[in-house]
Amino acid sequence: MSGPSSYNPSNGFTRWIDSRLPLPRLLYDSFVAFPVPRNLNYWYTFGGILSMMLVVQIITGIVLVMHYTPHTDMAFNSVEHIMRDVNYGWLMRYIHANGASMFFIAVYIHMFRGLYYGSYKAPREVLWMIGVLILLVMMATAFMGYVLPWGQMSFWGAKVITSLFSAIPWFGDAIVTWLWGGFSVDNPTLTRFFSLHYLLPFVLVGLVILHVWALHVPGQTNPTGVEVKSGQDTVPFTPYATMKDAFAMVVFLLFFAYFVFYQPNYLGHAINYIEANPLVTPEHIVPEWYFLPFYAILRSITFNIGPLDAKLLGVIAMFASIFILFLLPWLDTSKVRSATYRPVYRQFFWLLIIDCIALGLVGANPPEGTWLLIGQIATFYYFAHFLIIMPLLGLLESPKPLPASISEAVLAKNADKKVASAQPAE
Ligand code: HEM
Repeated sequence: MSGPSSYNPSNGFTRWIDSRLPLPRLLYDSFVAFPVPRNLNYWYTFGGILSMMLVVQIITGIVLVMHYTPHTDMAFNSVEHIMRDVNYGWLMRYIHANGASMFFIAVYIHMFRGLYYGSYKAPREVLWMIGVLILLVMMATAFMGYVLPWGQMSFWGAKVITSLFSAIPWFGDAIVTWLWGGFSVDNPTLTRFFSLHYLLPFVLVGLVILHVWALHVPGQTNPTGVEVKSGQDTVPFTPYATMKDAFAMVVFLLFFAYFVFYQPNYLGHAINYIEANPLVTPEHIVPEWYFLPFYAILRSITFNIGPLDAKLLGVIAMFASIFILFLLPWLDTSKVRSATYRPVYRQFFWLLIIDCIALGLVGANPPEGTWLLIGQIATFYYFAHFLIIMPLLGLLESPKPLPASISEAVLAKNADKKVASAQPAE
C-alpha cells in the first residue's frame, strides 16, 4: 500500500497490535480500502485467479510430497501408489497436474489483458517486468514438475530440453553435465529437479508479493487507459473488487473441475503412464501444451547464420521470445495506453493471438514440410510484432479521442445504454 492510511483500530487489541506490528493496517489499506477504478471488467480478475491457483498448487503439492519418492527406482511407482492407494491421492494429483495447465491458461489471459490495455506502459514498467520474471519461474517450475513422475515423456522431455544447452559454444557440454549432475539424465537430475520444484513456488510467492506491491504504487489501469483523476473514478477494493474476483474464481474453479473430474488426462500425454526407459525413445517428444509455441520457435530455425549454427540460433530465438517481453514498455511508442482507443493496434493484437495459436499448433507437429514453413513465418511475425510493428504503429497510428476521465467514460456508456433501452422495440 502506498499513500496515507485510513485504518482505524477499533478496539484495545487491534490498537495494541497496530502499534507493534501493523499487519492488519497493511491488509486493510491494501485489500479493503484500496481504491480501484470503477470500470474494471472481468479481464482484471485473472490476477486474483492466479493468486488462488498458486495457493492450490502449493497445498496439493505439499500433500503429494508426503507420498512421493524422489528416486529413479521408485518415483514412477510412488505416483501410481498415490493414484491407487492414498486416500484422495488421485484427486490431489489430478488437481495438481491440471492445476498447472489452469495456471498457464490464467497467466496467458492475464498477460494478453496487459498487452491489450497497455498495462506495461509507464509508470508500471517494474510491475510488468516482475510479471515476466514470474512467468520464467513458473515455466521452470512446471518443466521440473513434469519430470517427477518419471514417465517416458518426463525423461525424454528433460533430456531434450537440458541438451539444448550443449549448443552454447565452448562450455555447452560442461553446462549440460553440470545440470544433469552426471553424464546422463539420472537420479541426481531427478533429485535436483525435485528440490527446485519444491523451492520455486515459494520464490513465486515472494515475487507475487513484489508484483502486488509494485501494482499498489501506481494503482491499477482500467479499460480506458486513462489514469484515475478523482475519488469519483474509484470504488473501494472491498466489497467491489473482492466480490467480482470471488465470482470469477468460482466460475474458473468450475472450468477447472470439469477437467479434474471428467477429462483428467486430456491435457497430458498417454505415454507418461509408461515408466521412463533411457533405451526407448518415443516417436514424438512434445512438451506440455503451454510450452508448444516456444518449442515451435526453437525448432523453426533450421539454417546457420555465419558462424552461428541452427541449433544455437533456435535456443537463442526461444529465450529471446520471452526476454523480449522485458523491453515491451520501451518498444511501444504509443502515447495512448489502451487498445480500446487504438483501432489499428487492436487488429495487430488479434493477429498476434492468431500467431501464437499457430505457433502452438506447429509445436505439436513434426518440424517438416508445411508445418516447418508455417513455424518459420509465425516465428518471424512474432518478433516483427514487437520489434517493428509496435514501435512504428505508436508513431503512425491516429488514436481515437480519449475520455476526459474514467467517470466520464462510465457515464457516457450508461447514457448510450439508456438511449438504446428507450428506443421502442421493432
Ligand atoms: C503467479 C502469477 C501472477 C499473479 C499471482 C499475478 C497477480 C496479479 C494481481 C493480483 C494483479 C492485480 C489484478 C489484475 O489486474 O488482474 C496483477 C496485475 C498485473 N499483472 Fe500480474 N500476476 C501474475 C503474473 C503476471 C505476469 C506473468 C505478468 C506479465 C508478464 C503480469 C503482469 C501484470 C500487470 C502489468 C498488471 C497490472 C494490470 C493493470 O493494472 O493494468 N502478471 N497481477
